[in-house]
Amino acid sequence: MLMNIPVLTIDGPSGAGKGTVSRIVAKKLGWNYLDSGSIYRSLAIALLQKNVDLSNEIETLKVAQTLDLAFECDDGLIVKLNGQDITSQLVTEATGNVASIVAAIPEVRQVLLQKQKDFKKPPGLVADGRDMGTVVFPDADFKVYLTASATKRAERRYKQLMEKGIDVNILQITSEIEARDCRDKERLTAPLVQAVDALFIDSSAMTIDAVIAQVLSLVPQR
Ligand code: DC
Repeated sequence: MLMNIPVLTIDGPSGAGKGTVSRIVAKKLGWNYLDSGSIYRSLAIALLQKNVDLSNEIETLKVAQTLDLAFECDDGLIVKLNGQDITSQLVTEATGNVASIVAAIPEVRQVLLQKQKDFKKPPGLVADGRDMGTVVFPDADFKVYLTASATKRAERRYKQLMEKGIDVNILQITSEIEARDCRDKERLTAPLVQAVDALFIDSSAMTIDAVIAQVLSLVPQR
């Protein structure tokens, strides 16, 4: 008999707090965690390392097909590309922008699909991204669409990057967030959209603890 592995998906735009919420919820439930953005971001780093022209979809696809990624859990998530630790490079805005550009290529999404599905292992999975509840895990047991105003998201992103010692400009962050929102929502394949069966949460005026409590209320406690 096939065992039912519960999946909780958390989709939404950049800076809505998905990462923080998903990590804490996964820990509280004792489930596995998929940060799907880190897969697209790792591809972005591989492309930047190889100096691939991003308008060359065939070369981009080749790099996606041979992407050698390993995820390790230490204090936090460690991502290795061809054995090299690239965790600190994942968070930059440049990486996020390139990730968003190549994520619009349908064949690239198809190639990266299985890597994401492989995270579904007992006792359960919390998956964070843009198309977790719509494309990657459409049969997920619990779905959330987490958003916040663009201004609030830019403020949070700014704080997060400054805390990591990355010097950024808030106006630039705001315009990059808006451009990324637009690209992720307007693309033809797997655009960012709320799944019909997802719980909508606007975190603009909520504390992180309140968001976590609302997400956890979806999952019956064992
Ligand atoms: O969640 P993030 O900011 O790390 O994601 C970076 C980019 O990767 C995002 O702008 C679009 C792409 N992405 C995607 O297309 N689908 C996902 N499930 C996750 C991320």
